[in-house]
Amino acid sequence: MKKFPQNFLWGAATSAHQVEGNNIYNDWWQSEQSHRLKEASGQACRHYELYEHDFEIARELNHNCHRFSIEWSRVEPEEGKFDPCAIEHYKQVIANLKKQKIEPIVTLLHFTNPAWFSKKGGWTKSKLNKYFLRFVARVVNEYAGQVKFWITINEPIVYSSHSFLLGAWPPQEHSLIKTIKVTYNLAKAHNTSYRLIHKLYRDKSLNPPMISIAANLQAFEICRPTLKNKLALFLRHKLYNLHFIDKIISQKTLDYIGVNYYGRNLIDVEKWGINHLLVDTCQHNHCPLPKNSLGWDIYPQGLYKLMIALKKYNLPILITENGICTEDDELRWLYIKEHLEALHQAIGEGVNIFGYIYWSLIDNFEWDKGFGPRFGLVRVDYNDQKRTIKASARKFAQVAKSGEIE
Ligand code: BGC
Repeated sequence: MKKFPQNFLWGAATSAHQVEGNNIYNDWWQSEQSHRLKEASGQACRHYELYEHDFEIARELNHNCHRFSIEWSRVEPEEGKFDPCAIEHYKQVIANLKKQKIEPIVTLLHFTNPAWFSKKGGWTKSKLNKYFLRFVARVVNEYAGQVKFWITINEPIVYSSHSFLLGAWPPQEHSLIKTIKVTYNLAKAHNTSYRLIHKLYRDKSLNPPMISIAANLQAFEICRPTLKNKLALFLRHKLYNLHFIDKIISQKTLDYIGVNYYGRNLIDVEKWGINHLLVDTCQHNHCPLPKNSLGWDIYPQGLYKLMIALKKYNLPILITENGICTEDDELRWLYIKEHLEALHQAIGEGVNIFGYIYWSLIDNFEWDKGFGPRFGLVRVDYNDQKRTIKASARKFAQVAKSGEIE
């Protein structure tokens, strides 16, 4: 038996645009209407209406925490006009979780922005940070007493690279300069909102909250020891994995490290050039590993290695996302089990990990990949919105209940 620490957090995550449905005021929705993306989110999982039912399932599955995001474009659909109904909605969401003894872990920005904010230039413009701070102040003032864990920004590097370098996500650009600017502005957004949230809690004489980002970390490995590959390995680990964390830690604006981990990125660089060094992956099926339905390498040992690499920061770690899209539910359980084993090993070696959040509670809209990939512990039938608990979810529920794995 492998036992996890007392009071370990066990749960699953979602994000607003991926599950709520009808997020008509954000930039993703707008891009979806212009047919520049594979599929439109539409009704998604109708979680905006069905959240109580979904949280009952989470409770039934013994989750003691739940990560979700507040959709800025619902709270402030027009510049400066806050919607009291949306503010009340998220208050109810939090109250419902608390009632079921599920700790809310609240993300403030998960890839989508109000359309009006993007129209003004969005994250490419440093001076627009004041709008984000105004939104943060508004929601934190409303929910402070009920929320201990905040995540300011989900995967800042994934957002800046997918939206401004790779051209995959709105606004679908290919500009290295903008990518750097956006990354810089997101670091500023995190630092300033971190300070603001702490101040608001102090003003209300509340216990200090725990604030982080959710950083996407990848297990970079090389398939052969060439000079190009070794250099790419060094650059990618530094730029994708650690740069943002280092930048904000130097400002003392992290209370814990939120880690999103999915798998291995196998590097093989054939030609010199910064683009190749930053993105090329092995195309020859060297060192093959089992894969999820999107073809990503499954590599639990990578999570262990990253945990050991983060030890130097001496901060508690929360796994804010880890999961697999697959139609093979036995593989899902194996994935969860092996990643928990990797975490258990790291905990045994002194890494302070205080929770594990599976991505995702329910199947959902996987951004530019549409509804095909199924990450959920709970199956969603998109025709009638029926939820069906998968066998892997029941096994994970056992772990959440006992706090140990066999
Ligand atoms: C994101 C989620 C996404 C998941 C699977 C993470 O990068 O935070 O929004 O659905 O990975 O791709």
